[in-house]
Amino acid sequence: MANWRQHARKSPSRGGNALARSNFFCNNCELTQGESGRLLRFAQPMTAHGEYISSRDYKRLCQLIYQQAGINLGTERKTMLEVRIKRRLRALDIPSYSHYCDYLFGHQGMKEELIHLIDVVTTNKTDFFREAGHFDYLVQNALPEFMERNTNGRPFVIWSAGCSTGEEPYTMAIVLNEFAQTRPGFRFRILASDISNTVLDDAVVGVYSEAEIQPVASHLRRKYFMRSRDKSRSKVRVVPELRRQVEFRRLNFMDADYRMQEKADAVFCRNVIIYFDRPTQERILQKLSDCLVVGGHMFVGHAETLHDMTLPLSPLAPSVYRRIHG
Ligand SMILES: C[S@@+](CC[C@H](N)C(=O)[O-])C[C@H]1O[C@@H](n2cnc3c(N)ncnc32)[C@H](O)[C@@H]1O
Repeated sequence: MANWRQHARKSPSRGGNALARSNFFCNNCELTQGESGRLLRFAQPMTAHGEYISSRDYKRLCQLIYQQAGINLGTERKTMLEVRIKRRLRALDIPSYSHYCDYLFGHQGMKEELIHLIDVVTTNKTDFFREAGHFDYLVQNALPEFMERNTNGRPFVIWSAGCSTGEEPYTMAIVLNEFAQTRPGFRFRILASDISNTVLDDAVVGVYSEAEIQPVASHLRRKYFMRSRDKSRSKVRVVPELRRQVEFRRLNFMDADYRMQEKADAVFCRNVIIYFDRPTQERILQKLSDCLVVGGHMFVGHAETLHDMTLPLSPLAPSVYRRIHG
């Protein structure tokens, strides 16, 4: 699978993304705690031109985001979009949302800014060992089955589709390394993809806070994370062996072709399709199913239902499916 290269861009710190990562949602909209705080400041009377996105611009931004990333903002996320695009106004030193839209919808903006817009609208909440039952299922069912079927010694291929900042593929790496210890000859490949370059940069670096790795059992924390020399930073980094085992790549689920040269034995596409409308979810799941070997496993988020979709997947356990013929 030669096209799965290491995502080579480096980011010096995770600070810029900390907001997206904290993700404590306020009631109905997907504002993070930090965003809600800033919203209070924006809620003061404003006189400057362009402090709000006009209805016309909101409509065309929604259409663009839907076409490009499949994310359906609906009518009620205008405030969230204003808060998030505000970061881009600051970064580009653009005075108003209308100027921003003029730039974005122009030739140059479509070439250079669209990718940043997609970055700011994605929701990247994730955790190590999130929905931990899936990793138990992997070890207790999917891996033993693979061992039985795999008579020619090929590696187990697993894909974290929508990997965010790396917690999910690194959890896979921990689990697979532990499994490999008791199964001589077991080899594996871990692929991880996301649409957002910002999260991929963070994932490649593999630096997390002590708090973020709390879901990892303490003996595994000691084994798979290195402490920062500067104790006051309370940061840890995934050990190099583990980082080398994950192949990161940018992939948009809206792409016509996922360019997979080899089929996966397991796909984790969790807490991603929830942001898409039903027809888009079905199209994406069909394409992901096509990337699975027959008999392979598909894991979706616990809040994501495949009910009433026509897919070559048969249910095995809550939010776990098997690829069948068809
Ligand atoms: C909420 S995170 C889920 C992370 C992880 N799978 C988990 O369950 O913890 C959703 C991820 O999907 C990515 N995403 C959203 N739209 C996408 C698209 N069109 N193509 C690929 N990834 C997308 C986002 O950038 C984000 O990192």
